Amino acid sequence: MRSVVFYYSLEGNTENIVNRIVEGTQRDVCRLVAHRSYPKNGLKYFFGGMDVMLKRTPRLEPLTKRPESYDLIVLATPVWASSFAPAIRSFLKEHNLSGKKIILVATTAGGDASKCFKAMKASLGESEIVGEFTVKSPVAGHAKAADAVVEKIRKRLGE
Ligand SMILES: Cc1cc2nc3c(=O)[nH]c(=O)nc-3n(C[C@H](O)[C@H](O)[C@H](O)COP(=O)(O)O)c2cc1C
Repeated sequence: MRSVVFYYSLEGNTENIVNRIVEGTQRDVCRLVAHRSYPKNGLKYFFGGMDVMLKRTPRLEPLTKRPESYDLIVLATPVWASSFAPAIRSFLKEHNLSGKKIILVATTAGGDASKCFKAMKASLGESEIVGEFTVKSPVAGHAKAADAVVEKIRKRLGE
């Protein structure tokens, strides 16, 4: 079964988890990069939150991998305004993942990720969700818990 990780990360927490999921493996990985970035200061919550509320789909930089080529896809996002990051919405709008197996991963500053997962599932349509994992951020401050989740994800991927 061919597998890949697609993710968005603004501040590095989701990227940290993804790096550890693929570390020491040949697994393919693709970062989603929004063409327009967000402010580095507190205004990111305002602009990011607005994009989530308005269900905006920011333009993405060209992808380095094609999801159509894989059977199992890990989709990793930070929780934004109790939902998923707009770049993930752009990705899901552009690519039909029906029939794929999907593992959902969310990093969160402490809020519950269940609404985020629910929203992702609604956007995924006919995909088969085979795992849901939440990691608390900052990841560096919750290293042991993060290690445990990464191990579970790697097991789920069949390592
Ligand atoms: C625009 C925005 C909205 C956020 N909304 C939430 C939220 O609703 N609940 C929560 O627990 N964390 C929220 N966070 C915090 C992030 O989910 C958390 O810091 C995450 O790990 C960041 O991932 P990253 O470092 O990969 O960007 C938000 C962060 C941003 C920038």
